[in-house]
Amino acid sequence: MSAVRNDDIARAAGILRSGGIVAFPTETVYGLGADALNPQAVARVFAIKRRPPDHPLIVHLPDVSYLKGWACDIPRAAYRLAEKFWPGPLTLILKRSAIVPDNVTGGQDSVGLRVPGHPVALALLEKFGGAVAAPSANRFGHVSPTRAEHVLEELGSEVDMILDGGPCQVGLESTIVSLLDARPLILRPGIISRSMLAEALGEEVETGTAEKINLRAPGMLASHYAPRTPLHKVPSAELYERAFALVTQGQRVGVLTRQEGVHKPVLSPVEGPGLYYYLLPDDPKDYAHELYDTLRKADARRLDMLLIEELPQDEAWLAVRDRVTRAAT
Ligand code: TXA
Ligand code: MG
Repeated sequence: MSAVRNDDIARAAGILRSGGIVAFPTETVYGLGADALNPQAVARVFAIKRRPPDHPLIVHLPDVSYLKGWACDIPRAAYRLAEKFWPGPLTLILKRSAIVPDNVTGGQDSVGLRVPGHPVALALLEKFGGAVAAPSANRFGHVSPTRAEHVLEELGSEVDMILDGGPCQVGLESTIVSLLDARPLILRPGIISRSMLAEALGEEVETGTAEKINLRAPGMLASHYAPRTPLHKVPSAELYERAFALVTQGQRVGVLTRQEGVHKPVLSPVEGPGLYYYLLPDDPKDYAHELYDTLRKADARRLDMLLIEELPQDEAWLAVRDRVTRAAT
């Protein structure tokens, strides 16, 4: 559990109980947590994030037994997926039960639920003894935090407590699957892939947009997960040429590129003034783990522009490709 001790968990649970806000680690990204049954506490989460009120939050549950309290008309598929992937990086969209406060769901009839797979998150949920509504602990539209320092820098004084569980293992937000229709629909790709879901369910799973089922899902906005510095996607072959052209015009440029590996031939970048390199791993899971931290580091240098190398087209890269595309301008 890294540096988090039992009395930290007890204090955090107490803060939640009294309507306070606790940032906590999950296996995906850090969450900004509030008692999901307390509308005033939930409203504070929206205020801290500067999040539009019609954008729903994910409700984090201590274990699968809470599912029937928070959702209704639960299909068998929900239990199958919960059994297979919880605790873990999967959010299920189900019909909400009567106890779910309106501001948690942004006024919709559905609710997003997950049991996170991180020992600190689970200890907190268990000690609190209830559900915690938590979006990613960043300002609306910005890069999600994958380390406690990210939360401290961005929201620091506005949260009542930050539990530091070290770097998040996955580094990308959970896969979101809607089970509102007969056919399961992926609303946000993540490391639990379409083929893993299809295998667990024994049926095809579609990838879709929220509009398809008339939902509002902010993580689906074309621009999201974005650094403050303009970020452009560039094909591998044009990366250095583009960077040098900009530097020649007097711009300070950051280049986010994958290390040489199976996906990429060896290129030898020449360092120069005004040019900064950020190397990312050539493996999709490792890349996911590093991406947001690297974006934040590059952003902190306040360069004129960031260029990020386009990613391979295979399914293994789908979730990171999705985030890179939304982060790019
Ligand atoms: O990995 C994660 O999911 C992280 C950690 C903290 O659990 N949370 C996260 O929350 O990414 P947030 O608020 O940044 O993104 C939640 C996404 C949004 O795109 C939201 O629209 C969608 O979940 N969502 C939540 N409830 C929904 C609902 N009822 N219908 C459709 N989408 C929903
Ligand atoms: Mg978010």
